[in-house]
Amino acid sequence: MSLKASAPGNLFLFGEHAAVYGRPAICAAVGKRTEAVVSENNKGSVVIISDAFGKAEIQPTPAEKIWAEKKELENVALFVRHIRKKFGITKGFDIKIKSEVPVNSGMSSSTAVFCSILGVLSAFSGKPLDKEDYFNIIFPYQAKVHGGKASGSEIISSTFGGFSYIKKLKDCIPPQIETKNISGHKFHIIIANTKVDAPTSLTVGYHVPSLIKRDAKFVHGVFDKIADIAEKSIPAIKDNNVEVLGELMNENQKLLSSLGLSHPKLDDCIKEALSAGALGAKLSGGGWGGIMFALCREKNVVAVKKAIASTGAETIETEIGVKGITVDE
Ligand code: MEV
Repeated sequence: MSLKASAPGNLFLFGEHAAVYGRPAICAAVGKRTEAVVSENNKGSVVIISDAFGKAEIQPTPAEKIWAEKKELENVALFVRHIRKKFGITKGFDIKIKSEVPVNSGMSSSTAVFCSILGVLSAFSGKPLDKEDYFNIIFPYQAKVHGGKASGSEIISSTFGGFSYIKKLKDCIPPQIETKNISGHKFHIIIANTKVDAPTSLTVGYHVPSLIKRDAKFVHGVFDKIADIAEKSIPAIKDNNVEVLGELMNENQKLLSSLGLSHPKLDDCIKEALSAGALGAKLSGGGWGGIMFALCREKNVVAVKKAIASTGAETIETEIGVKGITVDE
């Protein structure tokens, strides 16, 4: 018998980085998903096979030592070991992870991996988990991937899907958060992967804290402006007001740039998208590379896609506001 869970990647429509410091983020689940499939083995060990990072193994209890072909899989193996213990899974199993979400791109590949693993293993243990319980379990692992801090926004978005408002209320571990589901529309979005490898831990764990240390007033002033933008976007998302959303995206991008979080290749894609008629374009996630996305009217989709592709970036046309975690046999 095998069980499967699937969780979406995410876009930050607004509020990345500021969300780590208690300002609201607006996230949308994207139609690129990560799938985890679990099946029992008769070895007693746990074998993790990832299409992106190869193989890892956890020895049978009591040793439970971890071996991972690539460093990136170590944290995943630690998470699997934790979940196995938490849910009292004593039998051995193989877990295969397959992802359409580009790694280190700002589309929350790690969150989609954690969510799908948690969904499939809790079901495998016979104790399927309520969506409300995903956040607290995943948060410490997410924070580790992000360089020691995180907003947790992506966990909410991957779990619940759709369009989410997420705000950290209290900075404990896991933090206390306020979340709201925003009813959204079928927006026309083009995502571009610049193929510039951008680990979130570099901007979240190193660059932004170093800026705050030197000029906290400036950085928090920028975060307050981003917070205003995120709040203003809610009625525009509900009303399908793409003109206002586009303007807000452009403002948010300028503010992220003022913190040194953009990248020449992101700027290149953004410029091309806007000159081909996109209403708004911004980076999403950690910055310093990874992905950007452009919001357009339906009639401009082909031109915007072509313009972005002319930079050499890989374009991804996909739905946003899709469903969150799903688990099935
Ligand atoms: C990373 O994808 C988004 C950040 O805002 C970090 C976070 O929210 O945890 C930069």
